[in-house]
Amino acid sequence: MAKIILDTDPGVDDAIAILFADSHPDIKLIALTTVYGNATTDSTTRNALYIKDNFNMELDVAKGASRPLNQPLLETAVAVHGEAGLGDFNIPDYTPSSVDSRPAYQYIIDTIKANPNEITIVAVAALTNLALALKAAPEIASLVKEVVIMGGAFGENGHYGNVTPYAEANIYYDPHAAEIVFNASWSIVVIGLDVTKEVVYTADYFDKLRDNSGVVGDFIWDISQYYMRFYAKELGFKGCHMHDASAIGYIINPKLFTLREGVVSVKCSGKKIGQTTQQAINPQNKQIDFQTNIAINIDSTTLLDLFYNSIVNYSEA
Ligand code: RIB
Ligand code: CA
Repeated sequence: MAKIILDTDPGVDDAIAILFADSHPDIKLIALTTVYGNATTDSTTRNALYIKDNFNMELDVAKGASRPLNQPLLETAVAVHGEAGLGDFNIPDYTPSSVDSRPAYQYIIDTIKANPNEITIVAVAALTNLALALKAAPEIASLVKEVVIMGGAFGENGHYGNVTPYAEANIYYDPHAAEIVFNASWSIVVIGLDVTKEVVYTADYFDKLRDNSGVVGDFIWDISQYYMRFYAKELGFKGCHMHDASAIGYIINPKLFTLREGVVSVKCSGKKIGQTTQQAINPQNKQIDFQTNIAINIDSTTLLDLFYNSIVNYSEA
C-alpha cells in the first residue's frame, strides 16, 4: 500500500486526482498539502477541505505557500479552473473541518521523519512547498520513498508547454522551487505533459461516470463542465486532459508508463523560463541510490479504465 502526501492546488484535475487516490485500495492518502496555482492558496485549501469533508476522507489538510520563492505571484488560471478553482461549482455553506496547525512544508518534514522510507510525495502543483521543506530539512531527501511530480514537458509525443510555448504551468509558477526539487538527492518520477496530454477524457466518459457512480460521479461531472468548455472554446478540443490523475495512475500501476532516466534541468530566467529539459546521465557520475526518470509513454486506454472502475467501486463502498 502506497502512503502518499498529495501536494496540490485544487483545481478541477487536482480534485479528480484526490478522488482517484482516495478511491483506490492500493493507496493510503495521508494528507493534502495545498499551494497556489489554479486558484489562490485560500481557495485551494477551502476546496481541499470541502472534498475531504464531503467524501468523508480520513486525512490531514495542511495549508501551504501563498507565493513562489523568488518571483511575483502569477495570475491564477481562472479561464481553465474558474474563479475559485472548481469551475463554476459553488461550495455550499457549511462549517469546514480544521486545517493542520503546521504550514505544509513543516507537515511534510514531520510526516516524512515520522515514517522513514515509507512516504511517497505526489506533487501536482507548483513545487514551492517541497522546496521549502528541502531548505528547512535537507535530510528528508534520504527519508522519502519516492517523489512523483506532475509537471514539465519534454517534447515527447510532440508536447511542449501549456502556459508558454516552452513551459508547463506547475514548473512555470515557481521555476526556482522546481530547480531545488530536481537537484535534491531523492528518486523522482516526472509525469509531464508528454504523457498527460495523451489521455483524453470526453463528455461521454463523464456522462457515463455520472450515471454509474452516484454522488461522486455527480461531483466529477459538475466540476468538469467549465473545464471542458475551456478546452472546447479556447483550444477547439473535444474533451480534456485531467493531468493530475495520471500521476495517481502511476502510483497505482507504474507499468502503464514507459520511463526514461536522465537529469532534469529547469530554465529559471529568460524567454524560456519554466522550460524543462532532460540530459542523459554520464555512467561515471551515476548515483546508485536515487534516480530521476521522466515518463515518455502511457497506456491511456488502461488508465481511463482504471480511473473509471476505481470511481465506480468507490461509489459503491
Ligand atoms: O499543467 C497542468 C497542471 O497545471 C495541473 O497540475 C493543473 O492542475 C495545473 O496545476
Ligand atoms: Ca494541479
